[in-house]
Amino acid sequence: MKNFIKLDTQNTSLVFFVAEDGRFSVVHYGKKVLGDNFLSESALEILNANSAVWNFSASSDDLYGQPTIVSSVGDGNAMEQLLRVENEDGSFVNRFVYDSHEFIEGGVTFDGLPGARKPLKTLVIRFVDEFAKLTLEQFYSVFENCDVIAVNQKITYTGDKSVKLNRMMSLQLDLFGTEYDCVSFHGAWCRERFRKETHISSGKFQVQSLSGTSSAMTNPFFILKDCYSGKNFAFNFVYTGNHSEIVESHFSEGNTRVLVGINDACFEWTLNNSESFVTPQAIMVCADNEKEITAQMHKFVINQIVDPYFAHKNRPVLVNNWEGTAFDFNAEKLVGIAKKAVEIGAELFVLDDGWFGKRDSDRCSLGDWFDNVEKLDGGLKNVADKIRALGLDFGIWVEPEMINEDSELFRSHPEYAMAVPGREPIRKRNQLMLDLVNPEVQQYLIDEIGDVIERSGAVYVKWDSNRFMSDMYSPTLNNMGEYYHKYILGLYRIIDALKKRFPTVLFESCASGGARFDLGLLYYMPQTWCSDMTEPWHRVHIQEGTLYGYPQSAIGAHVTAWSNNTIENRFNVVSLGAFGYELDLTKCSDEEIAIMKKQIEYYKKHRELLQFGQYVLLDSVFDDRKTSSWAIFGEDKSEAMVFIGETVELWNTATTKWNFTGFDDNAIYEMEVRSHFNVDEKFAYKGEVSGSVLNNCDLSFGNLFTQEQRSGLFTTNLTTRLIYFKKKA
Ligand code: DGJ
Repeated sequence: MKNFIKLDTQNTSLVFFVAEDGRFSVVHYGKKVLGDNFLSESALEILNANSAVWNFSASSDDLYGQPTIVSSVGDGNAMEQLLRVENEDGSFVNRFVYDSHEFIEGGVTFDGLPGARKPLKTLVIRFVDEFAKLTLEQFYSVFENCDVIAVNQKITYTGDKSVKLNRMMSLQLDLFGTEYDCVSFHGAWCRERFRKETHISSGKFQVQSLSGTSSAMTNPFFILKDCYSGKNFAFNFVYTGNHSEIVESHFSEGNTRVLVGINDACFEWTLNNSESFVTPQAIMVCADNEKEITAQMHKFVINQIVDPYFAHKNRPVLVNNWEGTAFDFNAEKLVGIAKKAVEIGAELFVLDDGWFGKRDSDRCSLGDWFDNVEKLDGGLKNVADKIRALGLDFGIWVEPEMINEDSELFRSHPEYAMAVPGREPIRKRNQLMLDLVNPEVQQYLIDEIGDVIERSGAVYVKWDSNRFMSDMYSPTLNNMGEYYHKYILGLYRIIDALKKRFPTVLFESCASGGARFDLGLLYYMPQTWCSDMTEPWHRVHIQEGTLYGYPQSAIGAHVTAWSNNTIENRFNVVSLGAFGYELDLTKCSDEEIAIMKKQIEYYKKHRELLQFGQYVLLDSVFDDRKTSSWAIFGEDKSEAMVFIGETVELWNTATTKWNFTGFDDNAIYEMEVRSHFNVDEKFAYKGEVSGSVLNNCDLSFGNLFTQEQRSGLFTTNLTTRLIYFKKKA
């Protein structure tokens, strides 16, 4: 059965069939099919691998409905295409025919692009369009102990004129059937990654970003659920720029096509003789349910995307001054906050926006990465040293990709700003973007930001980006169709150079909150600020939405003063991430300081579990029940942290029941509810309970919330508890 190509992951198989005439089809993507010679001639027929035997027409030209992984304009297929090329003869027609394939050990790396770090093996499939002088190579990589498959494409032009790529996606997968539910994640500033569900039955559904960034509006991660087989598929894109995820259900063919890749809006890439274009990597996984999808994604992100130096490293408890002071601070103020940070047990102090140039508002100085000596009483090093002398590490905020017109940089290099010559650009947050396509600008940032890190001795860098693109133009480009992608390549080049120079510095990306939560940036920066929204009820939505595809260690999550909910509820909600406080600690009461101290003690005790345990969503906040709960399990289910939260709408009801899952049925667990300062100790109860009861019974937790909900102590709507479980020996 040499015409079959089977790629196995730990629990799944992806199987292709190559017909005698070179046509290529997908015959299976799902649970693992055992053995190498697994298909008999009749299996071939019942799998519809060679649909000539099924189709009423015997002509192979009529078989355009075959599920496949390559499609182009004019190939007899009537659906959205993987690639669109303007050929050297001006035609748009391509027909790629299977040429060869091979399995190679490990993976293939492509300079300048982030991608999975340690593939076990890679299936390389070559397709050729001889007429158009194009070769297409597809790479399918698999990984140890994981079901994710990473896919990308390399297209090469072998003629001696030139062709233009008008679309070059990273992944195509045709799935069987036409009834799918798509779960995708959408939002805005302070409302990032809300779960939305769309039924797709016929026609096209597209998730996309056109802002030049991965965006808060639409995340590239999505789940696709086959309404008939129950299979769950999920896809993501290792990329930070404009993306497009297309799901097209084709009723007449009985298939649904999935495409993931760079958005083709304003995309046009020229290939001259022997030149290639390599797409960023897309990833896909098939699993039984959403919980398994999440487990697979978390495992993959931690082991394959995040820098191995940080992948399993505990993240420090930090105090950031932004929500406490905004631009209004001086050295004394910062040191005052830092002293309190030491008192509560924090490990890292982060100096946010406002320390450079003459920046006292968001109207000036972006681009001027020199110290505001007056504000910092001598300079960055001075403040950083004072803070270090207190026993804290020092971290710094930068927003490298931006420029204010009121800056030294703009006055000396107006051409560094992203703007169309002669045209008034759009300002967002009073700022313009820098033209990162220009290698001179890239080098300026590598040097300047490198110098900031060097002279401050920062061990942590918050890399912010507070607007998206509007005036794409670079004097260094002939073809502006290359702008969006070359900007992202420029960004990656800068961060990569800084990472190489400072390999042990922890970078956290941020974009007006969480507007760039993507695998491209996570490859360079192990964590991402999830959202500026820290009010608990709203925050649980954003965190749950993010956690479907990204692990908790990647999520920057802070307690702030943005809420009138109690500090205990605020802590419980954000305790599962890379945790910190963003308050003016000098304004907090002694009681609040004492509470924060206890919270940090608790967090540090369970940090490993909270940051790196296996997260399981128990109760989605996106249904109508007004509740939220999750569990995080340690290895072998030996311990777990459970979060439960319900809104005030449910107060004084005896009806809220919690349903847990994932505990060891045969074990007894010691359980302890974390105590809250404003709640009687009797509600911080301890006890023993079997895993079987936890897994199988409706749990009410008695009147755990009643006192707090009746006390009038809080005026907002979410009451929460953390409950810790430890397996008895
Ligand atoms: C937006 C970020 O989300 C905030 O945390 C803060 O860093 C501000 N930018 C600073 O301008």
